[in-house]
Amino acid sequence: MNRLRILSGVQPTGSLHIGNWLGAIRNWVNLQNTHETYVCVVDLHAITMSYDPIKLAEDTRNTAALYLACGINPEHSTVFVQSHVRAHSELCWLLNCLTPLNWLERMIQFKEKSIKQGSNVSIGLLDYPIMMAADILLYDADLVPVGEDQKQHLELARDIAQQRVNSRFGKDENVIVKVPEPLIMSEGARIMSLVDGRSKMSKSHPDDNSRINLLDSPDLIKKKIKRAKTDSNIGLEFTNTDRPEADNLLGIYAILSGKGRETVAIECSEMGWGNFKQLLIDATIESLKPIQNHYNEIINDRTYMDNILKEGAQKANSVADTTLQRVRSALGFLKTIG
Ligand code: TYM
Repeated sequence: MNRLRILSGVQPTGSLHIGNWLGAIRNWVNLQNTHETYVCVVDLHAITMSYDPIKLAEDTRNTAALYLACGINPEHSTVFVQSHVRAHSELCWLLNCLTPLNWLERMIQFKEKSIKQGSNVSIGLLDYPIMMAADILLYDADLVPVGEDQKQHLELARDIAQQRVNSRFGKDENVIVKVPEPLIMSEGARIMSLVDGRSKMSKSHPDDNSRINLLDSPDLIKKKIKRAKTDSNIGLEFTNTDRPEADNLLGIYAILSGKGRETVAIECSEMGWGNFKQLLIDATIESLKPIQNHYNEIINDRTYMDNILKEGAQKANSVADTTLQRVRSALGFLKTIG
């Protein structure tokens, strides 16, 4: 039986944090044995905001190494760099010409990020979700495992596939591109900031204390959790709104300790913040230790990393080229000659 295919990616901007891990990468790891798995480092997306060209290549390699450190096994998953597969840029252009501008203008992330950028907003930032649709559609992905914040982008990718490609260019109900489904897990899909339980943990937040990065040292983790915002109540509980910091930190503890929500809700129901924070510190340090150890083992082995990315690019290129040819032909382009 054919296995369902998944595709996902993370931008190599700044350091990856526990939101990226718990909301996305951890789910790829769990799915890779039962699903045909493609995971890319989306470096073309990383240049949509101002960035440092001296760091881009290094950050791209480090992000790929973190995928492996988190448990992505290159024997089970295809790991590649987005810009190593040129079909992404070409399909993005074709989809650009099929997508109405106002579909992009209503994207929440574009609105939020463009407000922060002021007058210096690039076309790339607006176009970001179309590139993302190209990433997904090229691989005929059945499922796209992402955090909650990507839901709207996934809906856009589905609309483009269905309404702008298949219904317009598919003859006799012929499907040109597969319409993907988002896969958003109930746990970990929205990890919130340590300094404000109402806003998402984010790589781009100027305050590093707002997030726990996957490569933070035990001392730094301790410091950040000790400083994390709390409230004046004693006893932690899941409230879903009234106590956002308790919801967030208890939720993180439930996942990292492996105990689950019901058990930790009982364990911490009468606990003061000080005792709880120590539990969270220990659970966080313990769960990041194997990731950090594995990362340190592989990060300086350039040949090992290069070989994985080279093989990944070969495999990804072959799948992506086949889809691109199908789309080119449906859109009426003259076949390449020779
Ligand atoms: P990026 O790099 O911003 O985020 C990578 C993944 O991490 C998830 N995530 C979170 N999950 C839970 N809590 C958080 N606080 C949190 N912050 C981030 C994101 O939902 C995402 O799954 N546009 C994508 C990258 C991308 C992509 C793709 C994803 C480009 N092409 C194709 C899937 C398929 C993004 O948000 O990257």
